[in-house]
Amino acid sequence: MKVGCVVVAAGRGERAGLGYNKVFYPLAGKSVLMRTLDALAAGGHIDICVPVLNACDFEAYEKLLPREGRPAFLLPPVQGGSTRARSVYAGLKALDADTDIVLVHDAARPFVTEEIITSVIKDAEIYASGVISAPVTDTVKQTDADGHVRTLDRAYLRSVQTPQAFNYKMLLDAYASGADDAAATDDAYLFEKAYGNVHLTEAAGTRDNIKLTVMEDFLAAEARFNYEYRTGTGYDVHRLTEGRRLVLCGECIPYEKGLLGHSDADVALHALMDAMLGAAALGDIGRLFPDTDARYEGISSLVLLEETNRAINKAGFTLENCDVTIVCQRPKLAPYIDRMRQNIAICLQTDVSRVSVKATTTERLGFEGEGAGISAQAAVLLKKVTQ
Ligand code: CTP
Ligand code: MG
Repeated sequence: MKVGCVVVAAGRGERAGLGYNKVFYPLAGKSVLMRTLDALAAGGHIDICVPVLNACDFEAYEKLLPREGRPAFLLPPVQGGSTRARSVYAGLKALDADTDIVLVHDAARPFVTEEIITSVIKDAEIYASGVISAPVTDTVKQTDADGHVRTLDRAYLRSVQTPQAFNYKMLLDAYASGADDAAATDDAYLFEKAYGNVHLTEAAGTRDNIKLTVMEDFLAAEARFNYEYRTGTGYDVHRLTEGRRLVLCGECIPYEKGLLGHSDADVALHALMDAMLGAAALGDIGRLFPDTDARYEGISSLVLLEETNRAINKAGFTLENCDVTIVCQRPKLAPYIDRMRQNIAICLQTDVSRVSVKATTTERLGFEGEGAGISAQAAVLLKKVTQ
């Protein structure tokens, strides 16, 4: 039996108010979309899975895969439509014709469990449909245009979620005639319309299987995870010399001298990388990027910072914030601080509000005060999800 899955992620996530598609929200350090795909891949019950995305999100998706992993069952993404139903239909058409059972799932439901997945598949095998549902715990009233209120019998009410599983060919046919039906807010609706009924599946886990819709849902979802925090510090010094460029936090600063070193000698980023590696207890930059290695000669330290970030990510850590202090008598660094923060934020794929860069002089004291060199210190906080 071949089981396929359509994961719809082509919405705009307007109600979440993030300013980008909510399925890319980094929930406890991993995107909602990848958490959903991982949950669907767990246990190996689904053979192939097609993600449906808005065209403007393809690039973000491609960037996600090398960072967060690529579950083996993934097919290339397809482009969604202006409504959820159109997006589902696009995904259904991309599955193999010999698919027996198809699950349709919202990318915005990352807490789907293996029990829910196996339950809907089993029911779809027996009844041609298996729609995950839960008893309604609130009392539900129906109102009409005249303001008449009627209390519905809760015993007969069910709220439905995704995944919804179906016989593939039957669902494809139902969509072929109904994908443009404005009333089709879920897949079961079109199946009911085409075949007269659907089978509702009950399984444990529906209380947790919420659809992340508004900001409060995201905050509550974050609180479900446990975290471990680590701090780290870094310190570095480079000598100032003539005939070199002065690069600090990836910013090239006009000055009569530059810092001497094997790479671009970006002392500030070196301190930052050491702080990150220190917090994760992964050694230091000398170990990661030895200055005997010709590959690192003249290299931009932003490239090394990116690699350092990958190393801490691989160990399960993400950066919460960082604070870099550059100790430098001359030149004046104030005009460059904002761009330095931007460079780091872009490189670490974090928000600039989590990145601080400061500069100070030493009242002409010491080697920094005399202009013989520049030193930098950094402190970071890293976060690791432990469950
Ligand atoms: N979806 C889709 N194509 C659409 C609309 C929605 O693939 N044209 C997907 C969403 O990405 C989401 C799921 O359908 O995973 C459920 O929809 P919803 O929670 O409403 O998400 P959005 O439409 O993105 O959010 P909003 O309605 O707040 O804009
Ligand atoms: Mg929507």
